[in-house]
Amino acid sequence: MTAPLTDRSYWSSRLTFILAATGSAVGLGNIWKFPYIAGQHGGGAFVLVYLLCIALIGLPLMIAEILIGRRGGRAPADSIAHLAQADERSTRWRWAGTLGTLTAFLILTFYSVIGGWTLSYLWDAVLQGPGSDPGQVGQRFSMLLASPSRMLGWHTLFMLLTIGVVAGGIRQGIERAITVMMPALFLLLIALLAYSLTTVGIGASFRFMFSLDFSRLTTIGVLEALGQAFFTLSLGMSVMLAYGSHLRRSTPIPQAALTIVLLDTVVSLAVGIIIFAIAFSNDLDVGQGPGLLFQTLPLAFGNMAGGGLVAQVFFLLLLCAAWSSAISLLEPAVESLEARWGMPRLPAVALLGGIVWLIGILCALSFNVLAGFRPIAGLTLFDLLDFITANIMLPIAGLLIALFAGWVMTQSSTADEYGANAGFALWRLLIRYITPVLVIVVFLYNLSGL
Ligand code: PHE
Repeated sequence: MTAPLTDRSYWSSRLTFILAATGSAVGLGNIWKFPYIAGQHGGGAFVLVYLLCIALIGLPLMIAEILIGRRGGRAPADSIAHLAQADERSTRWRWAGTLGTLTAFLILTFYSVIGGWTLSYLWDAVLQGPGSDPGQVGQRFSMLLASPSRMLGWHTLFMLLTIGVVAGGIRQGIERAITVMMPALFLLLIALLAYSLTTVGIGASFRFMFSLDFSRLTTIGVLEALGQAFFTLSLGMSVMLAYGSHLRRSTPIPQAALTIVLLDTVVSLAVGIIIFAIAFSNDLDVGQGPGLLFQTLPLAFGNMAGGGLVAQVFFLLLLCAAWSSAISLLEPAVESLEARWGMPRLPAVALLGGIVWLIGILCALSFNVLAGFRPIAGLTLFDLLDFITANIMLPIAGLLIALFAGWVMTQSSTADEYGANAGFALWRLLIRYITPVLVIVVFLYNLSGL
């Protein structure tokens, strides 16, 4: 096992850690996925279940991951192994960290392709305006997907942006990027929220998001809410283990975790309000699925006064969110390579970024030239990677982390790292019993859909 790096860098303040972790959490999951699944599952009741999942699973796991990361103070898998050893348990628990690291790495391969779409839409919004002809707007997305060169070009650029930040390390790279991106993200969000308050659809949007109509909520909706709580908080992917390992002991973990979780939730809710307000103002179908952001919403931008500017602000927001998440998906693997093979950061980032880029090429091409290549269960490579990571690897890694924090680590070591806070007993109860059971339920359900 590797020793902790003596020159291991720390976040320069509590705030930068919170911003970086929030940057990881706030991503395509909040802006692209949350509104469309909330739309599909009928709004209010779904939102309530989602909030419960965030509180019962998300927050306890967030605390657990940061806690393990900081106490271990090493690359994700090494942190777990070190703590297992300290409490005289099997170091094979390290596989939980390896699995999470691998999951994040694989997610980045297709996350980067979607990140590329946001670049492409931003580019179009700046250069061509929103376009007012519905046919033309509708075609934009299918034309993008059908073009191998555009898909590859944007994916490549997005990966270069990601690699560029991670190459700088915690202080010079991630922290510097985050301290610009996150304030920008919140300002853009406030601007869009202010705009949405002026639209005619705002009342309908609030009613949709917050009125409870349980008749529209299905079991599938409940399980989707649970999966979304996981994904949106970047849990089960060693990200918070890695970020937490650079956190100073003076920061109280429960408060930091609560702040991150609240910020992520506020962003999801705000984005939901904005998107539904725009959609209802333009009589768009909010329940139509994944195309909501890239196909439906641009229709509205074309119709509204000042839509060009709103589109630019919107896609810039989306880019900040996707980019700050992408860097966190690469970081755990880079730290692992540094620790395992003593590789300096630059070659480690280049090597891993290069591999992600190569696999990403296959994902990008699975929308066009490789569309016929469906190795398993009729899924394209893109869909396959999405399915395996989100529905299989992620819940397993999350479950292992919960079990490790709740059952493997001794109560005295978790209590020591948790700090003298009220809430420890409740946290321990949740992480030992509630979180694992709920994760297993979602996992089995997802598998049964195979
Ligand atoms: N939480 C991010 C989102 O909502 C995605 C992500 C998952 C990022 C895991 C990092 C790690 O889009």
